Amino acid sequence: MKITIIGTGYVGLVSGAVFADWGHNVVCLDVDKKKVDNINNGIMPIYEEGLEELVKKVSGEKRFIATTDYRSAVEHGELIFICVGTPSNQAGAANLDYVFSASESIGKYTPEDDYKVVITKSTVPVGTHNKVREHIKIGAGDKKIKFDVASNPEFLREGTSIYDANNTDRVVIGSDSEKALSVLEDLYKHLDSPIVKTDLASAELIKYAANSFLATKISFINEISQICERTGADVKSVALGMGLDQRIGSRFLNAGIGYGGSCFPKDVEALYRTSSEYFYDFRLLRGVMDANERQRDYFVDKVFRKYGSNLSELNFGVLGSAFKNGTDDTRKSVAIAVIRVLRGAGANIKLYDPAALENSKKELGDDNIEYMNSSEEVFDKSDSVFILTEWPEFANLDYKDLVEKMNSKVIFDGRNLLDPLEMKKLGVEYYGVGRKEDADDTH
Ligand code: UGA
Repeated sequence: MKITIIGTGYVGLVSGAVFADWGHNVVCLDVDKKKVDNINNGIMPIYEEGLEELVKKVSGEKRFIATTDYRSAVEHGELIFICVGTPSNQAGAANLDYVFSASESIGKYTPEDDYKVVITKSTVPVGTHNKVREHIKIGAGDKKIKFDVASNPEFLREGTSIYDANNTDRVVIGSDSEKALSVLEDLYKHLDSPIVKTDLASAELIKYAANSFLATKISFINEISQICERTGADVKSVALGMGLDQRIGSRFLNAGIGYGGSCFPKDVEALYRTSSEYFYDFRLLRGVMDANERQRDYFVDKVFRKYGSNLSELNFGVLGSAFKNGTDDTRKSVAIAVIRVLRGAGANIKLYDPAALENSKKELGDDNIEYMNSSEEVFDKSDSVFILTEWPEFANLDYKDLVEKMNSKVIFDGRNLLDPLEMKKLGVEYYGVGRKEDADDTH
């Protein structure tokens, strides 16, 4: 099939490369010329495991090219996927400007006698498809064009997105056109995954419902971690015991400093807003958002309880600034938020992250922060070390030696990567999230 992808962010670039790898002919469009040139030269705008190799492979096989030329890109695709960003606007709603301008360009450059299936992969609020249709027509002007719209939400996770795109639990396609549904079904036949065929509104809502449910699961276990701290229970044991019930499942039950990233915070808020717009007060989601903020504040409060509110004499080592492991992405990273608070209270920070240092520098600048080349350096003469991102390698450091390099052996583990008892044996004052044997016994 001839496929056009509009937008070369995580979703667009990964989907484009994966479709090309399935044997399709893919053109990826982006308005950013530098980005496009880089992609064509094998330099990826994002860090994603296996992406560079895959793009080089499919480009070499002449089945993948990036371009800034809208006309040729739109002419090329029988299927045109809109994969542009939908950042939150100031009021917390999804900003759809990029989606609508892409729709207008599709209308503008679709030749009169051609038929296109225009698919939104970007996460868009329920009802957006109607507006996409309208904007395509606006772009087409007086020209008569044939097209159908469809919704095909994306469920890939950053860090494992190529694997996810090839092994998704399900494919969701929504449309009011049988023809569009069957073209998309043909495309996804390549996978063994079940295909949910539905109407447009349901497809759009599935994405928000799924992300909000996962965020709810995280906030739920974070709330349980609070009860653990107050009752002497251990959140890891509780999560294990809960998660083995197959109706609950063990994934997304890791308590920590809260969820971040470019998806959950934005999508939970947007679903809450959508429900308000339809005069429904989705109170559970309000609670999910509140719990997420409180979880971060509570973690930081532990630091203030130990050191007081002025941290200016203190040197803190920080492991991790990405919003989760496996990515260089720091958007809405809770780790970054925590670092800002610590630095705001005067602490000197030494930061290491295996992938996100460059993005962290852009967000945090150089004031009171040194960027280190290894985990080990973070421990040198530190008064305290903070684990803020769940990179597995942080669990496997040689803590016995490393804590000896610290001014005082204090670890705040915001991701529960370490064993509190092991730390105790090493003489470490250990603060986790909802762990038994936590050094903070103010409850
Ligand atoms: C999320 C969804 O998992 C994907 O299915 C979806 O496609 C994607 O959003 C999207 O909408 O594009 P992603 O944001 O890449 O994927 O990351 P997750 O792995 O879901 O993690 C989100 C946040 O939750 C991270 O900050 C992570 O640290 C946190 N988290 C996750 C926890 O605090 N505890 C957990 O048990 C799991």
